Order: sequence, then C-alpha cells, then structure tokens
Amino acid sequence: MTTNEQPRTQWLGRWGFVLAATGSAVGLGNIWKFPYMTGEYGGGAFVLVYLACILCIGMPVMMAEIALGRRGRGSPIDAIRRVTTESGRSSAWSLLGWMAMACGFMILCFYVVVAGWAFSYLWKMLSGGLAGTSVDDMAAIFGANNANPFNLGAWSTLVTVATMVIVGKGVQAGIERSVSWMMPGMVVMLLIMIVYGMFSGGFGDALHFLFAFNASDLSSEGTLAAMGHAFFTLSLASGAILTYGSYLPRNASIGRTTLAVAAADTAVALMAGLAIFPVIFANGMEPGSGPGLIFMSLPLAFQAMPFGTLFGILFFIMLAMAALTSSISMVEATVSWLTDNKGVSRRAAAWGTGIVLWIISTLAMLSFNLGADWTVAGKNFFDWLDFLTSRFMMPLGGLGMVLLAGFVLKSQVMRDELALSPFVHGLWLFMVRYVSPLGILVIFVDALGWISL
Ligand code: PFF
Ligand code: NA
Repeated sequence: MTTNEQPRTQWLGRWGFVLAATGSAVGLGNIWKFPYMTGEYGGGAFVLVYLACILCIGMPVMMAEIALGRRGRGSPIDAIRRVTTESGRSSAWSLLGWMAMACGFMILCFYVVVAGWAFSYLWKMLSGGLAGTSVDDMAAIFGANNANPFNLGAWSTLVTVATMVIVGKGVQAGIERSVSWMMPGMVVMLLIMIVYGMFSGGFGDALHFLFAFNASDLSSEGTLAAMGHAFFTLSLASGAILTYGSYLPRNASIGRTTLAVAAADTAVALMAGLAIFPVIFANGMEPGSGPGLIFMSLPLAFQAMPFGTLFGILFFIMLAMAALTSSISMVEATVSWLTDNKGVSRRAAAWGTGIVLWIISTLAMLSFNLGADWTVAGKNFFDWLDFLTSRFMMPLGGLGMVLLAGFVLKSQVMRDELALSPFVHGLWLFMVRYVSPLGILVIFVDALGWISL
C-alpha cells in the first residue's frame, strides 16, 4: 500500500461526486440499452422487475460500494483489502475487487463500440447523410455503418482516445470538469424529445408498452436480464462507483448521494423510453429489433421535426457525452490501481490501459463485420462481453459486496461510513443481509432452470 500515507485526491466541488457518479450511471445503458431490452423482453413486466431491482438491490449495493471505497481510500482491490484487514477478516475478499475491475474493463471493451455508433451518427447528422431517408432505409443504414471495419473501428478508436485523454488529465481537471456541463445538457435534450414524442401519435402505445404490467410476460430470462441491467445502469460491481467513492470527502452523505444518483438514472431511462417508443410505434417499427433500436428510430423522429437536423445533432452530441462520462468511470479503477501500486504516472496508466482496451475493443467491433461468424453458442464476441458481465459478473460481484458489507465487516465500519439514523440503517442492513442476497440468488437460480417460480 504504497500511497497510504499521502492523502487521496478528493472531488473539488460539493457536487463533484454526485455529478461524476451520475455521469457514470447515466449513459448508453439508459438511452441505448434500456429501450432495446425493454423491447426484447416485452415491456411493462421487464420495467417493473427492473425498478424493483434498482430499489431493493441496486441502491443498497451502491451504498455499500461507496462506503467501501471511502473507507478503503483506494482502487477496488486495495480498498477491499484495507477494510477487511481493518476488521480482522480475510483479505482474500479483495478478489472481489479484481473481479469488479475486470468487469468494468470488459464492459468498456464493448461500450466503446456502441459509443462509436453515437459518434458516427453524429457525423451522419452533421454531414446530411440521414436526410430524406425513410423507415425502410434505417436498418440498411445501420448495417452499412457496421459493415466496414475501418469505418467502425475509427469511431471506437476515437472514443478510446477521448476516454484516455480525460482520465489522463485527472479526477478534478478531467472527470469532474467534463461531467459538470455534459450532464445538464443531456436532460434538456431528452425533454425536447419527449415533447416531440407526445405529438407523434405513438405516445399512448408507448405508455402502455412501458407501464402496462402483464405477469405472463415475465420470463426467467427476462428477470435475470432486468436484474443484470439494474447493476449495469447504476455502474455497480464494476469498480466505477467504488473508486469514485474513494474520492468522496468524509462529510458527504452516502445515503443522500445514492438516492440522487439512482433517481437521476432511473428518470433518464424512463425518459429515454418515452422518447423512443412513440417513434417506434408511430412508424410501425419493431420494438424487439435489438441493439440498433435507437439508431434506427430516432433519426426518423428528427427528420419529421421542425429544425430536426439541429435537434438530431444536439441529441447525438449528448449521447456521445453521456457515453464518455460513463466510459471514463470504467477505466478509473484500473488507472487508480496502476498509479497506486505500480509507480506509474496517471497519464502513463491511462495510455497503457488504453492500448489494451483498443486491442480487445477492436475484436468486439469486428463482431459486426469480419468476425460476425466467430460465434460460440450463437453469440459473437461483443455479445459475450455483454452477456458475461451483465448476467454473471455483476450479479455475483453485487452479491459479494452485500455479503461483505452486511456480514463480514465489523458492523461499526458501515455504521460510521453511512451515518444513517438507526431506523434507516436497520432498513439498509435488512436489505443487504437478506433482501438483496436472496433476490440475487433466487433470480439467478431461477434463470439457471433449477427451480421454476
Ligand atoms: N452505467 C452505465 C450506463 O448505464 O451506461 C454503464 C456502466 C458504467 C457500467 C460504468 C459499469 C460501469 F462501471
Ligand atoms: Na445507467
């Protein structure tokens, strides 16, 4: 623990952590993934399970992770080693930190590809490449954009470089400064989109699709997908929140910040759904059309709007920014671990990580063209990265986090860090000890087909 003697960097502003953690949480998960998953898993039932998971699993896990980070003042590996040692428990729990760090990195490897889509659509908007296209053209345009590995690879490379530039600049000058203006802009854009959606003719269908709950739509797989997505969307068990928590000043309230971040993230996901599904239904498109959903539907909405090109440009700028404020959080754990343990500068750590990321993300990018048939069990490399992280690593990592916080550490540690009223602390403890672990296990086992609910 080389740098334990030096005080750890902290967020500069009072809102630094909330902005950065919200920046991490709000991203492609909300605007790209949530709508297409809701489409694939049938709408309201998926949304309901997702919301329940945010409340009963996601928020308690987030509080535990922030507390672990702040108490341990380090990357997930170092922080967990310190807090377990402090409590006289096995430091083998730091394996959980390794898994989280690996998970964040694996997510990033496919995330930069999707962020690349956002940048390439921004470019299409700017250069007029989407003008005058019809519903039927949209799938072909999306396909053509993916077909050329040099085109697609250039965009994901751009995202990789931008991410590393920001992270290389540091916590305050890079991360904190960039999120403080990107986040508000995105919310304004989504509001404009919703207003458009309200007048597009598909709004009623969209509301019905998102919020009408039909228990028979609930599949085991959809339930696991909803739980995995709750972890993904809140950036949990991937090192991001824990590492950002390690920069949190002592006097900040972990409960209140968690509430703010989770509420903002949920609001943006629902807003994205309300912006996208009206367009889907008004144009007779297929809600279950998968990862290309927003790229095939939103450009249509922009075309039909007054000043649509302008709004389209603004929207894709915001989407690209939302992606960047998340991607930077996924490397921060690794960069922090490297600088604390390997004696390298932050800049060198960022670029070193960036090179490895570039190689693996290029393989993920090839899943859409040259490597489309490199599949195992029907999934290509891109799908596997998503599947392994969301369905396995995050739920298991989250399980580890709640067991660690709820049973393993001396109870005073979490009491000190969370500083909640006795009633709220009791509620949190009940959640991390019983509700979250059992919830994770039941959903998991159910999806494995061992039992049926
Ligand atoms: N929460 C991000 C999103 O919804 O787009 C994705 C993410 C960020 C996952 C950071 C994991 C992570 F560590
Ligand atoms: Na999110």
